[in-house]
Amino acid sequence: MPTFPVEPFRIKVVEPIRRTTRTQRERLLINAGYNLFRVPAAHVFIDMLTDSGTGAMSDHQWAAMMRGDESYASARSFFELEDAVKKIFGFKYFVPTHQGRAAENVLFAVMVKPGDVVPNNMHFDTTFGNIVARGGRAENLIADIANDPAAEAPFKGNMDIEKLDAFIRATGPEHIPLGMTTITNNAGGGQPVSMANLRATAETYHRYNIPFIIDACRYAENCYFIQQREAGYADKSILAIANELFSYADGCTMSAKKDGLVNIGGFLCVNDEDLFTKIQSELILREGFPTYGGLAGRDLEALACGLWEGIDADYLAYRVEHTRYLAERLEAAGAPIVRPPGGHAVYIDAKAILPHIPQPQFPALALNLALYLEGGIRSAEIGSVSFAHKDPDTGVMIYPELELVRLAIPRRVYTQAHLDYVVETVKHVIEHADAVRGYRIVWEPPLMRHFTARYEPVS
Ligand SMILES: Cc1ncc(COP(=O)(O)O)c(C=O)c1O
Repeated sequence: MPTFPVEPFRIKVVEPIRRTTRTQRERLLINAGYNLFRVPAAHVFIDMLTDSGTGAMSDHQWAAMMRGDESYASARSFFELEDAVKKIFGFKYFVPTHQGRAAENVLFAVMVKPGDVVPNNMHFDTTFGNIVARGGRAENLIADIANDPAAEAPFKGNMDIEKLDAFIRATGPEHIPLGMTTITNNAGGGQPVSMANLRATAETYHRYNIPFIIDACRYAENCYFIQQREAGYADKSILAIANELFSYADGCTMSAKKDGLVNIGGFLCVNDEDLFTKIQSELILREGFPTYGGLAGRDLEALACGLWEGIDADYLAYRVEHTRYLAERLEAAGAPIVRPPGGHAVYIDAKAILPHIPQPQFPALALNLALYLEGGIRSAEIGSVSFAHKDPDTGVMIYPELELVRLAIPRRVYTQAHLDYVVETVKHVIEHADAVRGYRIVWEPPLMRHFTARYEPVS
């Protein structure tokens, strides 16, 4: 048996990527105001900014795109997708949407009103934003262990059921129009949620007549972790695990740009007929007719195919082991990472590598930029740039506990050699960490500053 994950595919189409020189990258960073979102992708060698919509489609998916039925209503491609969604997710009703946040927007538009609260293990920023945009409040009730990067646990994405129950009683179920769980928990390291925890979460919500909606973007990776780690599931197929998991819920939102293996797309599923009627009306206003929901017929075809490929046992084993391979090699090279590695990304602890950079000088941003400068690698800053905020009462800056750099792995895109290159670059940066400087912000927008802010190095 090989000691490393072997890709269960061979490469038929290649996309050249170019290495730049360090001098070129220095210039590119100055031009981009030291913000990697502003660096042209053509000048990125290994792009690990996100795993969303960045995957490679298979020959089957490209062939399926040619079969796309572009009829406005009730196209054949819709029924292809409906078949896959019904067999895997099992809900009674579904509509396609152009991506995950569109499904959230439509759902919250018909369910959330000002003053309402929506609990979750941990909201992703678009779910958080869409709830707030409807005048609601988003509450995170994840088990405390999730906040300790070094703690080893098989299901660090689990909801704290006691906290959830107490929260519902304190808030009043009449103020909670729906409850959620996100699988895997992207905002907390891509950590999975166990079947037992999903069952207990559903029971808790249902005891108070609160509908349970799953944010399902990385459901297939979550099912793989259940198969590998939870007693009683080793002999069950991913499809059977997915069927059971969704049977506890009343619906789901899905960004198909992750485990749907497509570059664009999403959907919204529910069981309640009245709710579905409202969803259809809202969808027609915002996305399109209910059988295409903002997507072309070819996108529906690619997604129908991608959903089946996303739960293929060989693909999933490779996917999760590929991530684990990067994590283990990084650790062997001396990089402190969030343990255990999740399904789609490895998170590096920047505070531990750059203890000489205080949080007001953004250690995670400094590491994120050092990786680009050293090796043309683009990662995501998950630290004070993204999450520090002023206390509204005192005006004092509150810094997040963690300063992380996320290396997200696009699906079926990079080989082991690319991952080895990433490890060598990280190792070099760690060995020369003393030379890495902090940054200060020279311009920032009022909201979500990490996307567009400009910085300069602290001299
Ligand atoms: C957990 C989670 N929910 C929702 C979304 C939103 O999906 P989309 O980017 O397709 O709008 C994302 C995207 O990264 C996500 O990770």
